[in-house]
Amino acid sequence: MYIGVDIGTSAVKMIAVDEKGTVLRTVSRDYPLYMFDNGFSEQAPEDWWSQTADGLRELTKGLPEVSSVSFSGQMHGLVLLDENDNVIRRAILWNDQRTQKQCDYLNNTIGREVLLENAANIALTGFTAPKILWVKENEPEIFAKVKKIMLPKDYIAYKLSGVFATDVSDASGMLLLDVKKQDWSDKMLEITGVSRGQLPKLFQSYEAVGNVTAEAAKETGLSANAKVVIGGGDQAVGAVGSGIVSEGMCSVSLGTSGVLFVAADNFAVDTSPAAIHAFAHSTGRFHFMGVTLAAAGSNKWWVEEILSTTDYPAEQKNINKVGTNPVYFLPYLSGERTPHNDSMARGAFVGMNMTTTRADMTLAVLEGVAYSLRDILTRVRGLGAKVTTARIIGGGAKSPLWCQIIADILQLRVEKMQSEEGPAFGAAILAMVGAGAFKNVEEACKALIKVTETFEPNKENAANYDKRYPIYVNLYSALKESFHSIAK
Ligand code: XUL
Repeated sequence: MYIGVDIGTSAVKMIAVDEKGTVLRTVSRDYPLYMFDNGFSEQAPEDWWSQTADGLRELTKGLPEVSSVSFSGQMHGLVLLDENDNVIRRAILWNDQRTQKQCDYLNNTIGREVLLENAANIALTGFTAPKILWVKENEPEIFAKVKKIMLPKDYIAYKLSGVFATDVSDASGMLLLDVKKQDWSDKMLEITGVSRGQLPKLFQSYEAVGNVTAEAAKETGLSANAKVVIGGGDQAVGAVGSGIVSEGMCSVSLGTSGVLFVAADNFAVDTSPAAIHAFAHSTGRFHFMGVTLAAAGSNKWWVEEILSTTDYPAEQKNINKVGTNPVYFLPYLSGERTPHNDSMARGAFVGMNMTTTRADMTLAVLEGVAYSLRDILTRVRGLGAKVTTARIIGGGAKSPLWCQIIADILQLRVEKMQSEEGPAFGAAILAMVGAGAFKNVEEACKALIKVTETFEPNKENAANYDKRYPIYVNLYSALKESFHSIAK
């Protein structure tokens, strides 16, 4: 039996699977999230551990012996240990916004070129290196005590195995890794004042780093010889759980925000302002990723807040202008990450006339989100990645109409999968590969992930959308100044 553990932001989700990938049991345990008005967002690593240990005892009770365990983790979080391996302060999380000043210093004073050359990415407030600089500046007494720096899932792997390790996919989000060489960047370490000795040893996500210690076995109910496979960041491991592991494949996640995740054979860096993330994948190769901040979130806002209903299918039933809708929607309700990196961008409906219907507006929202995903896809293709097929996940995937619109606007085959266990299942797959049950991650995904539904692009609609996409693209430039005046 194999175990996948997903250290999320609201809870740890654990899954036990057999050698065929059949889910035997799932267990989830919550922990507190400390969020403050000033944008601080923190969690106690000790809570992650006590809840994981407790959950593992329930997960494994009465089931066959565990061969290996692996992880998916919320990315970027800064975990600091002192010389006695005690956690020195609460972890600063991926969604914490305190580091704007440190990001400005990294992007403007050190310079984007230096960051792109040494870490393949520019500084964003969520990333780990700016958090390290923040601690150094604001809590020097804490910084002086730091002996080990690690990411959330690495803390759990450390508690289980006693091995100070991380993997290249999660490490990519620290802005300390030379992503191409898959080694720590000496330049980035110099910039942040961190030594190699303070950082974990680097592994591929599917590699076993050690075994469960006798002490951890007692606490978790795992057997002492179970292998600990390091796992990866939740985006990469979630992609493994959806089979996005070889070039040609991307995943489109239609959650509150939308993520387009592309598996790539070759490394590349996005030097454009779009700043597509270029990270190592959990397969041993690379991936690119862009985020549209309000995806299913835009649809929820439109249907629930504006139309005051929760009957999504009823709102989509009267849609009759797919490919010919004169109305456009810009989905920048929360500002936008990719491609504009503009927190002051705002939502907009454009193009209505006296014959415009409620259904046209609803369609515009679905199309606007798909255009925004096409913006990301266009830039990723500009980096040399080939993409032919998208697997769609998240709440928005429940709408067959939206899946079809995404197939038409992205001009990709869109697939839906049998089960959507996501990152925890991806972690279980990595556990299987690390224990030798499969030769590599691709082979495991081929055997374990089943596609149930396919949407092929409709030629006529795709051609219509091709003509409309440039109009959508122009709207942001035309409205940018107004957005900034409104947001001020
Ligand atoms: C990825 C990211 C989130 C977090 C939390 O860049 O910020 O996916 O890992 O889930």
